[in-house]
Amino acid sequence: MSPVDPILELSLPNEEATERLAQNLAALVLGNGDTQAKPGGRIHLSGELGTGKTTLVRALLRAAGVTGRIKSPSYTLLESYNVSSLYFYHFDFYRFSDAHEWRDAGFAELFDEHAIVLIEWPEQAGTRLPPPDLDIQLAYAGAGRSARLRAGSEKGQRWIRSLNPSPL
Ligand SMILES: Nc1ncnc2c1ncn2[C@@H]1O[C@H](COP(=O)(O)OP(=O)(O)O)[C@@H](O)[C@H]1O
Ligand SMILES: [Mg+2]
Repeated sequence: MSPVDPILELSLPNEEATERLAQNLAALVLGNGDTQAKPGGRIHLSGELGTGKTTLVRALLRAAGVTGRIKSPSYTLLESYNVSSLYFYHFDFYRFSDAHEWRDAGFAELFDEHAIVLIEWPEQAGTRLPPPDLDIQLAYAGAGRSARLRAGSEKGQRWIRSLNPSPL
């Protein structure tokens, strides 16, 4: 990590803007357009109910090639998807009250470096989660939303540098 963590603040005036951000993120987690990059990455999504965490994940999974129904994991804790050799894990820890469950739930082994892990309400999982490459804070902003992206790794820093905020 360089001494300065890149932070990117975006305005997402409507749902389409959230979906465009998700599509850009999908290309980055897949490593598209970068011969050095291997697929994989970890994204944490925070923000009040209704700020668009699931909307963003759903659009990212769709852009990454997931077909069929994409359910919110708010009751199941985890929904997973497989596209060719790639594994996607979408967690929602909103209802996860006991951080000790984490140790027993057997999820830790899912965190392979080539997996794509998308976590809503990471703060509800206690301190056991490995750090994300990217942390996205969503908030209400009038009729739209705002997003604050913060890198948690060098990979996340590269993602933030290559995101082009101008079309959003
Ligand atoms: N940028 C945006 N501007 C306005 N509305 C949005 C935006 N992004 C998503 N929405 C809407 O806000 C709601 C977000 O719901 P959801 O994605 O389930 O939120 P969360 O998972 O954060 O609780 C949806 O009704 C969606 O259509
Ligand atoms: Mg949600």
